[in-house]
Order: sequence, then C-alpha cells, then structure tokens
Amino acid sequence: MLEKMAPSISLSVLFLLFLQFPLQAISINSEGNALHALRTRLSDPNNVLQSWDPTLVNPCTWFHVTCDSNNHVTRLDLGNSNVSGTLGSELSHLHHLQYLELYGNELRGKIPKELGKLKALISMDLYDNKLEGKIPKSFGKLKSLQFLRLNNNKLTGSIPRELTRLKNLKIFDVSNNDLCGTIPVEGNFGSFPIKSFENNRLGGPELKGLVPYDFGC
Ligand SMILES: *[C@@H]1O[C@H](CO)[C@@H](O)[C@H](O)[C@H]1NC(C)=O
Repeated sequence: MLEKMAPSISLSVLFLLFLQFPLQAISINSEGNALHALRTRLSDPNNVLQSWDPTLVNPCTWFHVTCDSNNHVTRLDLGNSNVSGTLGSELSHLHHLQYLELYGNELRGKIPKELGKLKALISMDLYDNKLEGKIPKSFGKLKSLQFLRLNNNKLTGSIPRELTRLKNLKIFDVSNNDLCGTIPVEGNFGSFPIKSFENNRLGGPELKGLVPYDFGC
C-alpha cells in the first residue's frame, strides 16, 4: 500500500504512526508478533484464537493472554483448547513469560530448544499432547522454573542431567512417554515421587557414577 502512495504522503503517514505508537509500544509488539506466529502454526477448530488481532498495538487485550503493568506478556493460557500443530522458536521472544500453559491439546513435533531462553518462566505445562523428540537440555537454564509437566506425550531420549540444576523445581512429571536411561538422584530429583517417571523405559534410580544416565537408550 505505502509504496503506491506519493512519497510525501507515506512519510506523513509514518510520522502520524510514530506519534500514535511511541517506540516502546513498537518493541512490545514483538511479543504480539511472536504470538501471531504461533497462531499461524495452529489449527484452531474452536476459534479460541479469534481475538488475536496482530494490528493492535500489543497483545494484552487478546483472550488467553495476560500482561503485566508494562504491557509485557506474562501468561499464555491455552490449556484444553483443542488446538493442533507445532511449536516454534518464536515463543522465546516472550521474555517476560511466567506461565506457558498449553496442556490438553494436539500439539505435535519437537519441543523447541529455544524455550530454554524464557528466563522468567515459573510454569511450563505441555502435558497431554503428542509432542515427540527429546527434552531440551537448555531447560537447565530456566532458573525460576517451579513446575515442569511434560507427561502424556511421545517424548524419547534420556532426562537431561542439566535439569538437576533447577533449584526451584517443585513439580516434575514426565510419566507416560517413551523416555530411556536412568532416573536422576541429584538436586531436587531426590524428592520427586516415582509416579512422575512411570510408564517409560526408565531404569534406576542410578547408582552415582556406576550407571551412565543414558543407559539402555
Ligand atoms: C476439536 O476439534 C475437532 C476438529 O479438529 C472437532 O471435531 C471436535 O469436536 C473438537 N472438540 C471439542 C471438544 O470441541
């Protein structure tokens, strides 16, 4: 559209846009862009993403999205929403995200390793989906994480030992996947119930140093 207008008109349009949306709002919309990129990946038969209008200044009025007082996205609540499709690395642009609630859908494909960049994340709930591939090692960098539920998917590989560094982790559930290797004993893993690991191909708990963590993988 802009290219077709006279240059002077498009310049004044840009100037008006700038007056209306200060620079801060433009940078905040990178979060809207990230969420809109997610929307384009998903099939949404129940129209739960209908309010996700990318032309708005920020995504804070969209349903299932919560922002803080600085208009940064802190929650994404799409549990049991009947959406299907894959997750992408663009979710890592939600730098202030604390709650990623995507359980009970038809998500498939791999869990993007870039989700390990979500430094503010408190809870990641991806359970009851059809996710496959490995649990990213990068999750060992999610220092604020308290809840990590990946149960009831099709995940393979071993439990990354990097996760035993997560000092704030309270709830961890990987039951009902296809994981192999041994169950860690270090860090908070010593206190997680055996139920959190059942229905996999996991052995253990490992004898420190005697059995490699990817034993049998
Ligand atoms: C979920 O979506 C499918 C279409 O993909 C539809 O047939 C089904 O009724 C939906 N389920 C619910 C609970 O809305």
